[in-house]
Amino acid sequence: MNLSYPRRISLARTPTPLQALERASARWGCGHRLWLKRDDLTGCTLSGNKVRKLEFITAHAIDQGCDTLITCGGLQSNHCRATAFAGAQLGLSVHLLLRGTAPAELEGNLLLDHLAGATVSCYPKHQYVTEIDHLFQQWQDHYASLGRKALKVPTGGSDGIGAWGYIAACEELRADFTAAGIEQAHIVTATGSGGTQCGLTLGAALHQLPATVWGVNVCDDEQYFLGKVAADAAEWRQRYAGVEEVDCQVRVIDGYVGEGYGVASPQVFALIAELAALEGVVLDPVYTGKAFAGLVAELAAGRFAGCRDIVFVHTGGIFGLFPQRQGFHYQ
Ligand SMILES: Cc1ncc(COP(=O)(O)O)c(C=O)c1O
Repeated sequence: MNLSYPRRISLARTPTPLQALERASARWGCGHRLWLKRDDLTGCTLSGNKVRKLEFITAHAIDQGCDTLITCGGLQSNHCRATAFAGAQLGLSVHLLLRGTAPAELEGNLLLDHLAGATVSCYPKHQYVTEIDHLFQQWQDHYASLGRKALKVPTGGSDGIGAWGYIAACEELRADFTAAGIEQAHIVTATGSGGTQCGLTLGAALHQLPATVWGVNVCDDEQYFLGKVAADAAEWRQRYAGVEEVDCQVRVIDGYVGEGYGVASPQVFALIAELAALEGVVLDPVYTGKAFAGLVAELAAGRFAGCRDIVFVHTGGIFGLFPQRQGFHYQ
């Protein structure tokens, strides 16, 4: 399909590999072939799924005359860290509005945010949840009063602009499928703010990828993500008049959030450790580990019966693993 993409800035190391997981297939595949789309390899500090979205978001910011990006997330947000490094690479200032109280010692993504030179403002959870829109506005006004212009980048970079990242990734997946001899697949991804799932769902339809896209939610519930992904897709359609009318059937696999966002069960930690030793691939406890645990359970339950190939999108997140090191029990 000849899609008219908006401008993007090359930030991600793409195409990322599509890796066959032979031992993991034998261990958990229940007769399926498991594949990993290695989007954890989009870069080193600028790694993970967010980079694909930021290619379009940063181009938009610069085209709008912005010199600053303001975005938000948890203290260990991968999206905020990726935005901080994208800004540093492009000479844009980055201001992060983070949920929670800054710990005495910086580590993981939060340490990297500082290394990238981002301005970091932390807000207690209640204030963050109730006032985030106001906080964005207040900081945008602040930069305007200095004669500067700041773009508000929503949680996870998930909106109509960010959706292009995974629409484009579907072109890559088409080539991957051809090279790997995949005729039909289920694509499974962790979903946290819905943008990756939205882009993949739109992209699969636009690029006629023979695949069904599933998001395993790591927070909230199925109802929330059905609405969120549909809303982002609607915003994408509205923002880019003339884009194709595409089928956007959103599919969510609920039931693997566990005790809550960012809290993983001992089984998830054990699975992360097992996969690391089995395939040399590291997942994280907040997103990919939970989603992979969901995939393993659904394979065993037969959800994907009748389709040989399953592609799990490794969306990155390794830096979020270190602050949760106590979940692993090594000497
Ligand atoms: C490592 C990782 N995987 C998956 C996700 C989920 O992606 P999205 O926010 O686009 O739903 C995120 C961010 O939220 C993430 O940081």
